[in-house]
Amino acid sequence: MATEQKTEAAATDGTSAGGDSLTVTDNRTGESYELEITDGTVRAMDLRGIKVNEDDFGLMTYDPAFTNTANCRSAITYVDGEAGILQHRGIPIEQLCEHSTYLEVAYLLGFGELPTQSQLDRWTFDVIHHTFAHEDIKKLNEGFRHDAHPMGMLLASVGALSTFYPDAKRIDDPEERYMAAIRLIAKVPTLAAFAYRHSLGLPYVYPDNELNYSENFLSMLFKMENTYEPDPRLAKALDVLFILHADHEQNCSTAAVRSVGSSQVDPYSAVAAGVAALYGPLHGGANEAVLRMLHEIEKVENIPDFLEGVKNREERLMGFGHRVYKNYDPRARIIKKHVEEVLEATGDNPLLDIATELEKRALDDDFFTSRKLYPNVDFYSGLIYEAMGIPADMFTVVFAIPRTSGWIAQWMEMNGDPEQKIARPRQIYTGDRDEDYVPIADREGPEKITGPPARRPKRPRRGA
Ligand code: SDX
Repeated sequence: MATEQKTEAAATDGTSAGGDSLTVTDNRTGESYELEITDGTVRAMDLRGIKVNEDDFGLMTYDPAFTNTANCRSAITYVDGEAGILQHRGIPIEQLCEHSTYLEVAYLLGFGELPTQSQLDRWTFDVIHHTFAHEDIKKLNEGFRHDAHPMGMLLASVGALSTFYPDAKRIDDPEERYMAAIRLIAKVPTLAAFAYRHSLGLPYVYPDNELNYSENFLSMLFKMENTYEPDPRLAKALDVLFILHADHEQNCSTAAVRSVGSSQVDPYSAVAAGVAALYGPLHGGANEAVLRMLHEIEKVENIPDFLEGVKNREERLMGFGHRVYKNYDPRARIIKKHVEEVLEATGDNPLLDIATELEKRALDDDFFTSRKLYPNVDFYSGLIYEAMGIPADMFTVVFAIPRTSGWIAQWMEMNGDPEQKIARPRQIYTGDRDEDYVPIADREGPEKITGPPARRPKRPRRGA
């Protein structure tokens, strides 16, 4: 890992250096500083040179939720939120969905270019032959209640993988990194299917190496007795959905994987952090929330009342809005096309009419368009999963399967980046200072405790 960046802004004589730089004047001192601009950014560490007194800490940036902060340099995924563009290693997502397969895209994300036939054959062989999970994982699952949420089970079992492959701690060993990528991409569908079968009290279905990646997942979910013939149209649609969910630059769960991985923990533990972040309803959990929302709306006539509730902040239009896309999410456009194809195979779903009308009304409404709220990847995907017979609480699990290849690609890129080191943000301290310890007998408070402790109102700072 690189040493601490020492570059800091130095006070200037006021004459601008021109070029790619920012000249700032600190009005507290009248001093001007030259800040270098590289790749559209200013290094936060350069602000530390801006001080009032020599022994000051210097300036920091304050950016809750990192809405305007680049945490890395990455060559994996390019997103242009205004134009609605998504490219993996420079290849537009539309072309990858049209011509590629999920396993080929997983290789592209991890190793930087499309594989040759022999590279793809070896990659596919390695993934297909590592789909089995250790039998003890089944004992781990037995500890869960029958109604345990499958994302909670997946979170636990992915983290448990780190205990089965202790050599993965050798994160600087290229062979260990490759095997971790293979094992995670290969085993997460198996762990996902085990969670589903546990929730139904059904025997687990082992991976079938005669099937391709998406067919095998459907088989592990739905096979009964000894036969299961995956519908090729559904398997193809699922493979496209896997491509669409594989990576999305520095989203919440990828940022979690990078941050946890920066402590040099093994990749299984780092990816488990990604599973945990994806579980949230504002992130990967949105696809499940969209289906519940459509079921609650129940019929097209209820859409106006629902949208009024959203505008009154009583609820959110799940599947709409995005931190980066301020235009239509290109993935939603592709998924919407596949919804119609899947429903041809499985039969109509009245929820599609509600979703289509809901989108139309929202995009005609200034509340949404003025906030640049458009359908995102989660708005239509649940309709396909439901049409395949996958229950709503499994939707985020199905999102986690392909995102595993993005997480491990980003983890590998981080480990190869000499600029990266352990993530350790700073803070603006707002608490008390230099308070004395008060013996318990001298403390004041309610005699009768009627609920959880209330947050104590901020006291004026001593000497303030
Ligand atoms: C994913 O980052 C990624 O790349 C994620 C992802 C990936 O592939 O990894 O693309 C996957 O997580 C897609 C997003 C799925 N989440 C949802 O669909 C949940 C619903 N969407 C929102 O909660 C929201 O849009 C976020 C979380 C996605 C983005 O939130 P931001 O960028 O923090 O925006 P914000 O909350 O500051 O909203 C700006 C304004 C606010 O209104 P004002 O207070 O300014 O008046 O828009 C409003 C918000 O209230 N708003 C919504 C809304 N989303 C934002 N109002 C109603 N419904 C919504 N869905």
